Amino acid sequence: MPPQPEALPVQLNSSRAAGLSAAFEGVTIAVLGDLMLDHFIWGSVSRISPEAPVPVVRVTRESFHLGGAGNVVNNLASLGARPLPVGVIGDDEAGRRTMEALQKIGAGTDGVLQAGGRTTTKKTRVVAHAQQVVRFDREDESLLDEDVSAALGKAASAALREAKALIVSDYEKGTVSAPLLKAVLGEARRLGIPVVVDPKPHLYDAYTPVTAITPNLGEAAQMAGIRIRAPEDRARAAAAILKRLGCKAVLLTLGDEGMLLCEEGAPPALIGAAAREVYDVTGAGDTVVAAFTLALAAGATMPEAAQLANAAAGVVVGKVGTATATREEIMNVLSFAAAPITSYRC
Ligand SMILES: Nc1ncnc2c1ncn2[C@@H]1O[C@H](COP(=O)(O)OP(=O)(O)OP(=O)(O)O)[C@@H](O)[C@H]1O
Ligand SMILES: [Mg+2]
Repeated sequence: MPPQPEALPVQLNSSRAAGLSAAFEGVTIAVLGDLMLDHFIWGSVSRISPEAPVPVVRVTRESFHLGGAGNVVNNLASLGARPLPVGVIGDDEAGRRTMEALQKIGAGTDGVLQAGGRTTTKKTRVVAHAQQVVRFDREDESLLDEDVSAALGKAASAALREAKALIVSDYEKGTVSAPLLKAVLGEARRLGIPVVVDPKPHLYDAYTPVTAITPNLGEAAQMAGIRIRAPEDRARAAAAILKRLGCKAVLLTLGDEGMLLCEEGAPPALIGAAAREVYDVTGAGDTVVAAFTLALAAGATMPEAAQLANAAAGVVVGKVGTATATREEIMNVLSFAAAPITSYRC
């Protein structure tokens, strides 16, 4: 028989949500990961090029936004936290723009190291009439040089001494490596600091010891080696990851179906998506890891933190581009669409 949903007695009420989100203010969260710059070139198209069968875009403006781990940092700042990014930029224009953007949102930048000779990861999207025409990436995905990685480890230690929690935002762009994780996660454990990882499957076994991990469906399937078809496969994959990493929770994000929280010793809980309108799901995973970790650091239980993160993701998917949510917007989503929560016995 397929698993039967059952009511979960932990629905977040609005006064508890308001209390928790008020406690987000000023909480210091370290973010170790791949900093990136999102570059948008906006314009319009009125003809096809005579040179090749491609549209000719008349550029009207350009904009730059923090991406990757930088988007996690941006989300934390928008929620009232004090983010401490730990990562690398190159000695190039994109690196300088990344640094400026971090400073502008009030992030501490002592942990942002310039690695000479490295290209700052930059994704450029050409958008005409609200439609993406092309995207081109400039990046150096090789692992960091050992001396840079060692310096990053030191920067992470310094950030951990100030932080209430650590997020690892791994985009497989070379910043996060097994030796770096060993040093940083060991230090976090010694200091008693909770760690939440937004993973990529390549470092699966290195994400330990951590408190929680937030894979999406594809990542979870790959990590657990399970083909996910039926709903119970999701819980099986999450349970396998939980067991292998020995962590306290796996928060599996399910796109338009919301998220599945699989906590050690508790039945998995399915939290339905909270979005009212969906425009752009880019970066929703960054919002989830930011809000979930911040909520835990502010004293939320895992199910409470998951519900706040789900509401925050519901806000950002309703905005165009890599977006962020504020506490007011989260409260607004929770008031009109308390996402249905069910749990599955498995
Ligand atoms: N189409 C959608 N409708 C409603 N909510 C959505 C939708 N897509 C994503 N979400 C919300 O965003 C959360 C994270 O989305 P998703 O599972 O796509 O993460 P992801 O694949 O890690 O995203 P990212 O592109 O940032 O890496 C979901 O748990 C859900 O709350
Ligand atoms: Mg993701």
